[in-house]
Amino acid sequence: MTILLTGLPCSGKTTIAVALSCLLRSSSRPAQVLDGDVIRHKLWKELGFSKSDREENLHRLAYLARLLSQNGVISIIAAVSPYSGSRAFVRNFCDPFIEVYVNAPLSLCETRDVKGMYEAAHKEIRHGKHPGFTGVDDPYEPPANPEVECRTDQETVAESVAKIVAKLKKQGALDGL
Ligand SMILES: Nc1ncnc2c1ncn2[C@@H]1O[C@H](COP(=O)(O)OP(=O)(O)OP(=O)(O)O)[C@@H](O)[C@H]1O
Ligand SMILES: [Mg+2]
Repeated sequence: MTILLTGLPCSGKTTIAVALSCLLRSSSRPAQVLDGDVIRHKLWKELGFSKSDREENLHRLAYLARLLSQNGVISIIAAVSPYSGSRAFVRNFCDPFIEVYVNAPLSLCETRDVKGMYEAAHKEIRHGKHPGFTGVDDPYEPPANPEVECRTDQETVAESVAKIVAKLKKQGALDGL
């Protein structure tokens, strides 16, 4: 099973992914978070944020997820993954698959700004640059039919995790849990 958490920067993907993996592991289900930020930094720093590099980033994450899930590990990809075409690739490549739309309004994500990236992007724009930051000057294409939608402006982390677990159970991925 591969789970893709997609959403704007600071929507809550990593937070939910980590909480979900902890819950699964505490129930003896092997689970691995593949965090887009972390893996990008550790394994392929050379990829930037152009459309093709972002697509390549997600393709590589999908490859890792498939390797893990073929060996019984529930793979949880947490990555902005802004383009619907790339997400469709993951859906076809990783089977079984569920897409989770981690949804919060841009205005709230901007106030969370845990890493100061929105502020940095706005600053660059004020200086006439085009940082290509998702939600600011690069598009985020919202999922049309995600298996799960987590409204992190309205739900607690635990509620979001519970929604995903319910979906996994429905798909028979967590028999006995
Ligand atoms: N209901 C919620 N679910 C998830 N995160 C929440 C929620 N409410 C507040 N947050 C907070 O939102 C902030 C951003 O979360 P997080 O770092 O997980 O986002 P992200 O989507 O992984 O961002 P990035 O794309 O930059 O990696 C965190 O401080 C987190 O605690
Ligand atoms: Mg994150």
